[in-house]
Amino acid sequence: MPTIMVTGRSGEEKAVTVDSGINVMEAIRDNGFDELLALCGGCCSCATCHVHVDPEWKDKLPAMSEDEDDLLESSDHRDEHSRLSCQIEVTDELDGLKVKIAEED
Ligand code: FES
Repeated sequence: MPTIMVTGRSGEEKAVTVDSGINVMEAIRDNGFDELLALCGGCCSCATCHVHVDPEWKDKLPAMSEDEDDLLESSDHRDEHSRLSCQIEVTDELDGLKVKIAEED
């Protein structure tokens, strides 16, 4: 079971161990981080699951779709490490992934 490291908006970091196959948004939301709203439930239509991915991991993630790219454009806090966490499936290869919940828009 992969473990991902999640940093919340207040700076607290937590190791979260989850089953492979769920997405990073679900891993965060189901492990005590209430600030990740994930309003659309993972349908890639809200951008409230925005995270910043540790630079070391950026190239190991699945490619960004056009929809994800468009949605992230609506965020004032987008940077080169931004992703929508619902679009990243947790796999064994992502064991150790580090993400930080993005600032609220
Ligand atoms: S939960 Fe809505 S885009 Fe990710």
